[in-house]
Amino acid sequence: MTEPVFTTIFEPFRIHSVEPLTMTTREQRRAALAAAGHNLFRVDAKDVLIDLLTDSGTGAMSKDQWAALQHGDESYAGSPSYYLFRDAVRALFPFEHVIPTHQGRAAERILFSVLGGPGKVIPNNTHFDTTRANIEYTGATAVDLVVAEGRDPASEYPFKGDVDVAALDRLLSERGPDVPVVMVTITNNSGGGQPVSLANLHAVREVCDAHGKPLFLDACRFAENAWFIKTREAGQGDRAVVDIVREIAGLADGMTMSAKKDPMGNIGGWLALADDDLARRCRDLLILTEGFPTYGGLAGRDLEALAQGLHEVVDHDYLRYRIRSTEYVGNALHEAGIPVVRPIGGHAVYIDARAMLPHIDPLAYPGQSLAVALYEVGGIRTCEIGTVMFGRQPDGTEQAAALDLFRLAIPRRTYTQSHMDYVVEVCRHVADHAGELAGLRIVEEPPTLRHFTATFEPLGTSSP
Ligand code: F0G
Repeated sequence: MTEPVFTTIFEPFRIHSVEPLTMTTREQRRAALAAAGHNLFRVDAKDVLIDLLTDSGTGAMSKDQWAALQHGDESYAGSPSYYLFRDAVRALFPFEHVIPTHQGRAAERILFSVLGGPGKVIPNNTHFDTTRANIEYTGATAVDLVVAEGRDPASEYPFKGDVDVAALDRLLSERGPDVPVVMVTITNNSGGGQPVSLANLHAVREVCDAHGKPLFLDACRFAENAWFIKTREAGQGDRAVVDIVREIAGLADGMTMSAKKDPMGNIGGWLALADDDLARRCRDLLILTEGFPTYGGLAGRDLEALAQGLHEVVDHDYLRYRIRSTEYVGNALHEAGIPVVRPIGGHAVYIDARAMLPHIDPLAYPGQSLAVALYEVGGIRTCEIGTVMFGRQPDGTEQAAALDLFRLAIPRRTYTQSHMDYVVEVCRHVADHAGELAGLRIVEEPPTLRHFTATFEPLGTSSP
């Protein structure tokens, strides 16, 4: 008998501790929406049934991570937990300087405070919102140079996070002296969670070398990106993910990191880099607002949990489950005729809200309308990634974003396949009633990162 091949998506863990979910009625959710100004960031988590707002810091830790917390050494300076953390980072990203921060944006703020400033230009495949905001806050300009396929939600190109290398070369030829660093985000979150190929990273490195520029990775979802390289890129199938990750790291001069993603932490981040002088300037800023360089903004126990998380995330059984379970949701929506960004990304399914609600102008926020409808109908919290998030320009004017998406981000190891079947069911219902949605207008907004706190008002009454 030949060995059977089973195709069920298999969670390589069983559940050890459970968290109850609270059911709410549609009336309660309508009231919660009104009280929150129709902004899901302002809705209390206790009023949410399935929380797909983000995959950041919301995953389940393993029993070994919980055990690692007990090993935390809370010494102010030189804690052994720091060295364990540093070595776990270096095992994958062998940079001389590993500087812990309380989360990713703190690493960004420090790096761009040193490298940014008025007149500077910082390219990326697509800047995440906090990256862009931290760059713009210094007076510098953030430029997105993703390949054309990355801006086409329907394109099946396997590496839609790739950088447009010719455009990068042009930018560096024209504005070279103004570009302090080239960034690449793996996977490309704002562009649909799409991976960057190893070939593209090599090509970016070559262009950086030709122009004498450092390359930094925004590496939050490095393990998912490496899995996509392993499974999609020619000649990579037999390699271990750790090996691919080390090759990626070897192409870069440094990285910013949110440890709330692939390192499986509930909090944390780091800045890692090779250059001694740059590291010294970054550490000086770190001490000013984050803490002493051996703990950054973190407790020793957090550093221990992250070190363990880094071992777990490169496990092939975990990554196979992770990518397949996200794809399961995306494929179910696709089969139901819902316009999802293809191919399905690593940590999230992105729905093309503009395609789903062609009757709603981008400036009436189709992504936000769908996110609000999904919450009202099924208690599911998602996140707009479109004109609400990116539409406000540094000069205060407003423009439609390149894409109007909304994102179902899947926390790591947290929800079961039946939870996801429910999510698909609710999405199908909302899709069937999409024509009834009317859009929203902004009532109040802050000058930067408005999506977190803005309040909205529906432009009509609808009850999908
Ligand atoms: N870079 C990328 C690509 C991110 O996705 C995030 C966070 C950050 C940087 C900032 O890290 O949150 O630790 O300060 N993304 C989360 C999300 C918030 O929901 O996509 P942070």
